[in-house]
Amino acid sequence: MNSKILKIGHRGAKGHVTENTLESIKRALELGVDGIEIDVHLCASGELVVFHDLTLNRLTDGSGEVSNHTLKELKRLKVKGRYEIPTLAQVLLLIDKKCLVNIELKGQNTAKEACRLIDFYVEKKGWEYQNFIVSSFQSSLLETVFKINDKIPLGVITDTDLDKAVAFAKTVNAGSIHADFTMLTEENVQELQKNFKVVAYTVNNLKPLDRVKAYGVDAIISDYPDRI
Ligand code: G3P
Ligand code: MG
Repeated sequence: MNSKILKIGHRGAKGHVTENTLESIKRALELGVDGIEIDVHLCASGELVVFHDLTLNRLTDGSGEVSNHTLKELKRLKVKGRYEIPTLAQVLLLIDKKCLVNIELKGQNTAKEACRLIDFYVEKKGWEYQNFIVSSFQSSLLETVFKINDKIPLGVITDTDLDKAVAFAKTVNAGSIHADFTMLTEENVQELQKNFKVVAYTVNNLKPLDRVKAYGVDAIISDYPDRI
């Protein structure tokens, strides 16, 4: 079993404060996380914004797809009546190398801008590539990142097929497999760890937390990182 399992806050600290907001990320930092996972989309004016859903409807007073709105339009909206949609740049400024940043590429065309921002932070702000993991369910986005800059650590996310995830991960030299925790067993974690770090998501309850910890995963993503 690993000596240290990294605690990663899901969408900030989603269990405590509204997901993917600066306030949620602040709370995760206060809770002493080793990393923070956030989701990104490219908006119509070209910035990456931190938001989970394809559309604005569930979480904001707006509607339609995030990618059809400019940053100016998105900034006028309220998330859950009181928060703002942050840009990825705002989030990186707030995290300021205090922990690992797991950027999950959700929306189309997010790869190129993510690479540009990461390079900017590495070249101009003293970050290291190892401060980042870029993950996605979408293989085409990870392939694009790999083609642009093979130094950026990649994570392949799966909730359906570990073998397929592993086969693809090898083609882009990914460092980690991010698996829905319900797919994991002691045996497959050991097998995966021959080639990859294993990140279990999204583990919130104490029993499954104990279980995946006993499997010796490398990191756990939780809405309640303080429970890890
Ligand atoms: O990155 C792990 C997890 O966040 C993937 O699922 O839907 O919560 O973004 P989702
Ligand atoms: Mg996510």
